[in-house]
Amino acid sequence: MEQYAIKGGSALVGEVEIGGAKNAALGILAASIMTNDTVLIENLPDVRDINVMIQAMQSIGAIVTRVDRHTIKVNGGNINTQIVEGDYIKKIRASYYLVGALLGKYNSAEVKLPGGCNIGTRAIDQHLKGFKALGARDAGIDGGMIVAHAANLKGAHIYLDMVSVGATINLLLASVMAEGMTIIENAAKEPHVVDVANFLNCMGANIKGAGTDVIRVRGVQSLHGTEYAIIPDQIEAGTFMFAAAVTKGDVTVKNVIPKHLESISAKLLELGCEIEESDDAIRVVASKPLEHTHVKTLPYPGFPTDMQPQITVALGLAEGTSIVTESIFENRFKYVDELSRMGANVKVEGSSAIIEGVKGYSGASITAPDLRAGAALVLAALSAEGFSTVDDIKYIERGYEDFEIKLRGLGAMIEKVENDRDIQKFKLRVG
Ligand code: UD1
Repeated sequence: MEQYAIKGGSALVGEVEIGGAKNAALGILAASIMTNDTVLIENLPDVRDINVMIQAMQSIGAIVTRVDRHTIKVNGGNINTQIVEGDYIKKIRASYYLVGALLGKYNSAEVKLPGGCNIGTRAIDQHLKGFKALGARDAGIDGGMIVAHAANLKGAHIYLDMVSVGATINLLLASVMAEGMTIIENAAKEPHVVDVANFLNCMGANIKGAGTDVIRVRGVQSLHGTEYAIIPDQIEAGTFMFAAAVTKGDVTVKNVIPKHLESISAKLLELGCEIEESDDAIRVVASKPLEHTHVKTLPYPGFPTDMQPQITVALGLAEGTSIVTESIFENRFKYVDELSRMGANVKVEGSSAIIEGVKGYSGASITAPDLRAGAALVLAALSAEGFSTVDDIKYIERGYEDFEIKLRGLGAMIEKVENDRDIQKFKLRVG
């Protein structure tokens, strides 16, 4: 099984190019099959979740052509079924966007229930409530499938009980060709929600208010082809920014939208890092000891839950006591046991982690429990004295393209290995 072998202790220094946003791309891929014209999508990250989504689109008849590693053409004109049932689709959370897309285009969808990271219960009741309001009266879960069928879709006024990225995007997809006006209240404001709305508007949709908590969708007859470049990935960028903080490094993340990273930059300033912003890059310099602080994860523009493990790893090295409160997913501290094995002093009480900073981590054999926690544990290993191995990197590869290659570009000693012999060779090489 593939692992990362890491020798920690050196500061990461240099520039790293950030790829397209995975979570925007998942919504955009689903949207791309809603026209019979060809759509060109650029800046698509080459990560496992995206490739599973493409496989699902192909399984129902969409034609996907790779132009280059980060550019594809999609044609949804030959879709021959509205049933997505391959077991592989359970690997990703965002398979449920195919429900919104197929329902919106064909008034009918049956998609195997999603999987994704095990970070909480992850209900989809708000998605189903919205589909029902739009006219899919049977929307529900049946035999392991999400099903939704409608005679015709009609615009509706939908109030989401909680801010949900997934439900907001799914309801955009389902309502974009519904008759009349749909209003989504308490909508998610994440940059990837705005990107999906912008993409749909480029395809001829009429969506206003994306990025605020009230989105208005006036249904259109049909959507047409377009060319679109996906926004940079906020969480990939944030992860490299925290890599600078934990390794006392100096890292510039390039090809980013600094506005999307404000809550992350603000916390890094509180931790004592220096931040330099330009139009499409942010430099993080961590020359002083890290300072403790408190943080609570919140929907955008709050501090992202997908950055919670990374900031916990950094605060584990900050002098004094910090408290990290997770308010989005209830099961997101599973990595703390692994971090403790590296010498961290973290206690989890309910939805908060109480962190007493330690001087440094020490290398250990650890396992990635999910995507973002996996990446955070890699950061911990990069800052640690000595060797570490990180197992189950398949989770990390769901959302980070060439993670170890990009880290090596910043001077990290990290390699993907397959067995003990590879680990011994790595140890000999890096000393
Ligand atoms: C998306 C992101 C994920 C990120 C999360 C929050 C994708 C593929 N994944 O996940 O990386 O961590 O947003 O920014 O884009 N909820 C319900 N009922 C629902 C929907 C959600 O109770 O119908 C709850 C969830 O359990 C969770 C909260 O609402 O507690 C937010 O979830 P949501 O924003 O929907 O997350 P995802 O779209 O699954």
